Amino acid sequence: MDYKKFYDKYGAFNMQLDKISEPSYTVTYAWAKTKRRLESLLLSEITSRLTSKKELKIADIGCGDGSLLIHMAMAVDSKALVTFEGYDLSDSFVEFGNFAADAKKVCDRVSFSVFNLENDTLNDEKFDVIVMSEVLEHLTDQRESLTRIYNALRPGGVLLLSTPNSRNMIKYPLYPLKKIFKRGNDAQISKKLTQSEETFVLAEEEQHLHVFYHGELRNLIKKVGFKGVTFYRSSLVFGGPLLDKWRLFFAFLLTLDVVLDWLNAYTFGWDIVLKAQKPVKRT
Ligand SMILES: C[S@@+](CC[C@H](N)C(=O)[O-])C[C@H]1O[C@@H](n2cnc3c(N)ncnc32)[C@H](O)[C@@H]1O
Repeated sequence: MDYKKFYDKYGAFNMQLDKISEPSYTVTYAWAKTKRRLESLLLSEITSRLTSKKELKIADIGCGDGSLLIHMAMAVDSKALVTFEGYDLSDSFVEFGNFAADAKKVCDRVSFSVFNLENDTLNDEKFDVIVMSEVLEHLTDQRESLTRIYNALRPGGVLLLSTPNSRNMIKYPLYPLKKIFKRGNDAQISKKLTQSEETFVLAEEEQHLHVFYHGELRNLIKKVGFKGVTFYRSSLVFGGPLLDKWRLFFAFLLTLDVVLDWLNAYTFGWDIVLKAQKPVKRT
């Protein structure tokens, strides 16, 4: 599979054709909850680190349309020493991101480049915070990619990551069957599970090569060298056409979601959202 070609098409689809799709308010709720969480974590990392005199460098790997970094640059004082770099495999997304940064008048602080995390090199110890949202599941060698990110962080730097949760019974209802009908490797099974999503047209082919659950990802992140992994809650459900119709049931799930937020029951969520820190001193 030529991933570069695929994500160029995926980016173009998202920037042009997807705009005419009927929006699903339940999917919007789920996505927005993860995105707002990452944005607020990123904003608090920036504000807590701004006290020092050195320039802060923030990256978003697999940044898609670049909206997260553009929102951040608009939220942070323009005189603050912070620069934002977005990287993505898709030419269409990168072109759109640079256009949007220009239109929003933040292009002096925000830039986007075409980049393949699995082949291209990031400078060592360059960034204070790296965000990677909904990308890990698309990569062929997750451990190697996380190691590249680890190396690109300055000591004490932070990774903010989101990726689907394979143990979410609602988004991946086939999960219990995995144990009974275990055929093929995890990548093939994850792909089968992901194909049960019907919400996206093109994302169906999007190749979720491996979908993690919390404990599995915590172990991998620790093996790479990160310390202090903290998980956060995402929406209980991913949403979709059925939930859009069943409004009362969705209202019930929203109430449950608030209770689960209160209990910080992060394993009950369609997405894994986490923050992990690179130790200040290497161990
Ligand atoms: C599901 S989208 C997520 C986009 C954005 N981060 C968000 O949360 O809205 C996955 C993104 O990862 C990018 N991507 C996939 N493989 C990549 C790679 N090897 N290097 C860099 N970006 C990659 C795709 O082009 C796509 O924009």
